[in-house]
Amino acid sequence: MQKIKLGVIFGGMSTEHDVSIVSGTAVISNLNKEKYEIYPIYIDQDGDWYVYTNTNKVYQVGDKISNITKIDDVISYLKNLDVIFPVLHGLYGEDGTIQGLFELLKIPYVGCHVLASSVAMDKAYTKIIFEKAGLNQAKYLYIKAVNDGYVLVEKDFSEKKVSLDNICEIAKALKYPIFVKPSNSGSSVGIRKVNSDEELKLAIEYAAKFDNKILLEEQLVGREIECSVLGNNEVKASCVGEILPSDAFYSFDAKYKNAESKTIIPAQIEPNLEKEVQKMAIKAFKAIDGKGFSRVDFFVDDKKDKIYINEINTIPGFTQISMYPKLWEASGISYSELLDELIELAQKQY
Ligand SMILES: Nc1ncnc2c1ncn2[C@@H]1O[C@H](COP(=O)(O)OP(=O)(O)O)[C@@H](O)[C@H]1O
Ligand SMILES: [Mg+2]
Repeated sequence: MQKIKLGVIFGGMSTEHDVSIVSGTAVISNLNKEKYEIYPIYIDQDGDWYVYTNTNKVYQVGDKISNITKIDDVISYLKNLDVIFPVLHGLYGEDGTIQGLFELLKIPYVGCHVLASSVAMDKAYTKIIFEKAGLNQAKYLYIKAVNDGYVLVEKDFSEKKVSLDNICEIAKALKYPIFVKPSNSGSSVGIRKVNSDEELKLAIEYAAKFDNKILLEEQLVGREIECSVLGNNEVKASCVGEILPSDAFYSFDAKYKNAESKTIIPAQIEPNLEKEVQKMAIKAFKAIDGKGFSRVDFFVDDKKDKIYINEINTIPGFTQISMYPKLWEASGISYSELLDELIELAQKQY
């Protein structure tokens, strides 16, 4: 049997570059070498593309990549491949931009296509789609930083000019603490939890450094529960896992630097709540027109039996200890089998 020429792309231009190295190299070392001829491709933080040859090294977050040779003609290099697995997190990897390149080149690729990727990367638009799907989520305000101040974006997308003081007034409906988030972000970058008007104003100015679209969210109480989904048209959901953040919230450091952040797989929750989470995860994935895979994140308040959806990650962490593959492992699909399934799904149209 002819081997499948598989490109695995990792690194990338986002804040999650280092995590992607760990995810990408873990994928490469777990692929079935009998089945795939692997073309490992590294993108550096400036957006230059390289062939990576040291395929046996296992990376930790923060390790710098070695054994790379620059690719002069990226388009020709990619055109030679049968399938691509972009193991890239965040902007220019998970947001539909690179997916657009694969579409132009007519090369099948793992995971969500352009629309689902860009909707899921943008928290304001994810919320709008979730709302339409009737999925329970945090109350929020959507504002935009504009040249000379801010505008409040209403549910019908009409815009009203507001000052920071006006925003504090309107935000009273959410009650402190409030979470302030740049709409286009990942890995908790640019996110702050605030307790007063003063802090709120600063957090808005800070979030505006990352994106001009900004969300203010009420605080959700409950356990952070995550569910993996897999499939194109027929979508299945894994068992669910729980995150125990070591910080006040699941910040960038808590995610990637602090060994104290723990995960519990499977999460110890009521079977009926787990079923509901799984149902909501599939619904969310369909709502964004997802393909291949995603990890869907929730808050579950078991005292009140309430579930809130938080976000959907279209290229979830894929290190050997990441939630996405771990949840499938706990549901009976090994890491290597999961890779086979994802690549098969990429090659199917539906
Ligand atoms: N509304 C909220 N209530 C409570 N905690 C929140 C809320 N929004 C975010 N958080 C905390 O901040 C973390 C990062 O926020 P999230 O929206 O998941 O952004 P990212 O895309 O960066 O992961 C979450 O994992 C959670 O710990
Ligand atoms: Mg998150």
